[in-house]
Amino acid sequence: MKVAVVGATGLVGTKMLQILEERNFPVTELIPVASAKSIGKEITFKGKQYKVVSVEDAIKQRPDVALFSAGGSASLEQAPLFAEAGVTVIDNSSAWRMDPTKKLVVPEVNADVLTADDKIIANPNCSTIQMVVALKPLHDAYKIKRVVVSTYQSVTGTGVKAVDQLFNERKGIEGPMAYPYTIDLNVIPQIDVFTENGYTKEEMKMVKETVKIMGDDSIKVTATTVRIPVMGGHSESVNIEFLNDFDVEEVKALLAKSPGIIVTDDIANLKYPMPLDAHDKDEVFVGRIRRDETQPNTLNCWIVSDNLRKGAATNAVQIAEYLVAKHLIGQPVEA
Ligand SMILES: NC(=O)c1ccc[n+]([C@@H]2O[C@H](COP(=O)([O-])OP(=O)(O)OC[C@H]3O[C@@H](n4cnc5c(N)ncnc54)[C@H](OP(=O)(O)O)[C@@H]3O)[C@@H](O)[C@H]2O)c1
Repeated sequence: MKVAVVGATGLVGTKMLQILEERNFPVTELIPVASAKSIGKEITFKGKQYKVVSVEDAIKQRPDVALFSAGGSASLEQAPLFAEAGVTVIDNSSAWRMDPTKKLVVPEVNADVLTADDKIIANPNCSTIQMVVALKPLHDAYKIKRVVVSTYQSVTGTGVKAVDQLFNERKGIEGPMAYPYTIDLNVIPQIDVFTENGYTKEEMKMVKETVKIMGDDSIKVTATTVRIPVMGGHSESVNIEFLNDFDVEEVKALLAKSPGIIVTDDIANLKYPMPLDAHDKDEVFVGRIRRDETQPNTLNCWIVSDNLRKGAATNAVQIAEYLVAKHLIGQPVEA
């Protein structure tokens, strides 16, 4: 496979390269792409050096698949150019997620919606991905009515500039600000911009994307998304109301045997998921699983995952792996 990585110099793009290598994705040729300022820069992949090229040069090389993590506006402009050349695009930005003609995919939940005709496939928002991996088996077993989620999100979710802001603040250095406020030793209850209803875009992504991925618009979601000064991954406190009742031990067993999930729930030994432990892992970690005693059929849990891996790069590579396994990546059309 000829694989283009668009945004190859960014946080997600770098992770994407690492994961392609780790999972031994069948890359015969890598085409790293970034903005104009990075063209010519060298990228190492599987011990070989590759030069960053422009979008135009990448399209001329006719890759089989293009993994995009270059931001929404780059994606809106460039993904269709790749798709028109017959290249399958898997996009990490929010540009295409709610487009009714595009699939929004988390392989553990809904890979079966993919067909060879899908030329631009959207990767969901990081906080949505980890939540739906855990919600899916529970929905199948007990039918979810409503989800109340509060997030505790890593600065790596904002990109290189935010990581630099945190470490500059820690060292007392003045530098560019990714956030409107100091993030070190602080908590910012705003992720992305505010929308007309008083929620942020990140909160509305969790509401809308969950319904689209789960394929069930009867699921009600309300979210509060919060940035905290951590690195390893996003954490979520999730309250789930079901139509049917459940047994807590059965819930733990069900989650433990579901794909992509590790249950870390042993309060006697103080074991629960934390970003430091989830860091650099591909799984979604679920713990603090307990009954909400204030109303019927309702569960509380705590979900943690590495937002750069399962929340972005790993999920995109898993989509590509599924396309390969099902022979859904076609040969690009001739020039
Ligand atoms: N971080 C996360 O946890 C996460 C999770 C899910 C999705 N995402 C999404 O993934 C995307 C990238 O996020 P990130 O955290 O990796 O950001 P980042 O660290 O700022 O990296 C952005 C990358 O995009 C490239 N780029 C920017 N404009 C471009 C253009 N016009 N043409 C080609 N390449 C361009 C940059 O190249 P230069 O180095 O040349 O500037 C860089 O490689 C965003 O859409 C973000 O919403 C991020």
